Parts: sequence; structure tokens; C-alpha cells
Amino acid sequence: MTAPAPTAHDVPTAPAGRPPGRLAGRTALVTGAARGIGRACAVAYARAGADLLLTDIGRDLPGVPYPLGTADQLAHTALLCREQGAGSVVTVPADVRDTEDVRAVVDAALDRFGRIDVLLNNAGIAAPSGKTVHDITPDEWDLMLDVDVSGAWRMIRAVGGAMTRQRSGSIVNVASTAGLVGYRHFAGYVTAKHALVGLTKAAALDLAPFGVRVNALCPGSVRDDEAAEGRMLSEIARSLDVPVEEHEQTFVAAQPMNRLIEPDDVAGAALWLASDESRQVTGSTVTVDGGFTSR
Ligand SMILES: NC(=O)c1ccc[n+]([C@@H]2O[C@H](COP(=O)([O-])OP(=O)(O)OC[C@H]3O[C@@H](n4cnc5c(N)ncnc54)[C@H](O)[C@@H]3O)[C@@H](O)[C@H]2O)c1
Repeated sequence: MTAPAPTAHDVPTAPAGRPPGRLAGRTALVTGAARGIGRACAVAYARAGADLLLTDIGRDLPGVPYPLGTADQLAHTALLCREQGAGSVVTVPADVRDTEDVRAVVDAALDRFGRIDVLLNNAGIAAPSGKTVHDITPDEWDLMLDVDVSGAWRMIRAVGGAMTRQRSGSIVNVASTAGLVGYRHFAGYVTAKHALVGLTKAAALDLAPFGVRVNALCPGSVRDDEAAEGRMLSEIARSLDVPVEEHEQTFVAAQPMNRLIEPDDVAGAALWLASDESRQVTGSTVTVDGGFTSR
């Protein structure tokens, strides 16, 4: 059955007394918001005037050999967002592997704000890495796909009802250049991110009749920015048993713009995809990779 054509969108604009930022009056839900790219994107959305629901697992995960974001880091992201002019900011810890957690996050956003205009599916892990494909254990494989693909699908599933009823929304899946090309010794991550790009295209087709857009954002190698407390690049270097500086230089040399990507570079694209400026963009993969995948 064909879904009915969307009627006039009830997309909110800036409330009285608030500057008309690109996301003023909109609600954005950001996963993996405790640090790194998630923090940079949350702050960009805050500057654009959004109300924010920030979530992160906030604890370590058995099977991931490096520390994940903490509750304190999530609170710090919220503080930065308030300083940058966000409307209201709510934090809720949640594991994107857990259907009940995911439901609770979405309910909290709807209870507080009444709508969800933007979902940034950013939570992700990069472990296991540094293993040849046949050395990955079944548990390691399942964990990677559970967080990096199924976690994003669970979030889409949970916001789908609200966004289709609103007849508007923008979902941004943070994939990776690993969703477009292969990397040696990263079979789990490469498979998960390719699947996330596939999920993006399929969800974009399903949700387009309802005025809901779905896009994938594919960053290249992002610098572990101190202010954002990112650590993915250094953890990958560690798993490959390569000094961080050497690992960084390998990627600088591979990215034609000759520098690492900054979290703010990714946030700029995440803001554009969230805003009306990209209103005809759906099912797309937007690369922020300094030209890496153009070779
Ligand atoms: N850093 C890079 O070079 C790079 C490049 C391309 C894509 N990415 C992607 O960008 C996203 C963010 O990466 P980052 O570099 O900021 O990494 P990061 O490890 O600094 O941040 C990831 C955040 O996700 C959270 N998280 C992990 N598992 C979770 C779960 N099960 N439930 C809820 N939250 C969970 C972590 O606690 C952490 O705060 C990831 O999806 C990653 O794959 C990163």
C-alpha cells in the first residue's frame, strides 16, 4: 500500500525571544554524545538553537578494550551546549543495544519536547580491530554489529512513529569511509559501516513519503581533539600496535587535503544535514574525508 502524500509540514520555527538559529525550535537527539564527534555535533546543534536530548552509554562495555564515554563527560557536553545557547538540554544514559533503553530515551524526548526533529545516530565502537577476518571471535563480531548497525536501526525504529506522524524529520547516521571502502584488519567495522550505509538508503526510501529524510555521514580519520575528548584514532593505533603519531601521519598522507579531519568539520556537515538547507537530500552519503575516497 502506498503511504499518503505528505500534507503541510508542521515544522517549528524559533520561539518568541530566541534568535532564529538554523535549528531554533527543533529538537535533536544525539547518541554517543559524551565526547568526540558526538560532542562536537551536539555543540553545533546547540549553537543553532536546538533543544537537545543527549544520550550515551556512560560506562564501559565488556568486549571493548578501551574506555567508553562516562556520565561526567555526558554532563560536560550538556554544559557546553547550554553555554552555546541551546534551548533546553536533557541527558539520559542509554545503551543503543538495549531496546528498552532506546525506548526510554525517545519517550524522554517526546515527554519533554513533544517532538523529535533530528536524530544523530553517532554512537559507535571501533573494536575489535587489528585482527584478520578469520581471527575475529563470534562474540566480537556480534558486538560490533549490535552497536554500530543494530543500535542505529533501534533508534530509527523508536523515532519512526513520531517523525512519520509529524511528517518531517532528519536522521543522520554517522558511518565512516569504512562504509564505502575496505580497510585491512577491520572486517567487523567495515562490515558494520557498509551495512549502516545500506540501512540509510533503505530507510530513506521507506520514510520519504512521510517527509522524513535519512542520510549517512562518512568521516575520514578524525583527529582526537582534546576539547572533545575523542579517542578513537589513538585506540585504533593502539590496536594496530602503531605509535599514534605514525598512525596519524599515515592518514594525513592518504587524505589529499593533507590533514586529519576535525570533529568540527564533521559537525558542520551534520548541521547541514539536520537543517532545511538539505531538504532535498535523502538516501545520500556525505563524505567528509579530505578527498580520501576520491583516489
Ligand atoms: N574518530 C574517527 O576517526 C571516526 C571516523 C569515521 C567515523 N567515526 C564514527 O563516528 C562516531 C563517533 O566516533 P568518535 O570518534 O567520536 O568515538 P568515541 O569513542 O570518542 O565516541 C563514541 C561514543 O559512543 C558511545 N557509545 C559506544 N557504544 C555505545 C552504546 N552501546 N550505546 C550508547 N553509546 C555508546 C561511547 O561511550 C562514546 O562516548 C562512531 O560511530 C565512529 O564509528 C569516527
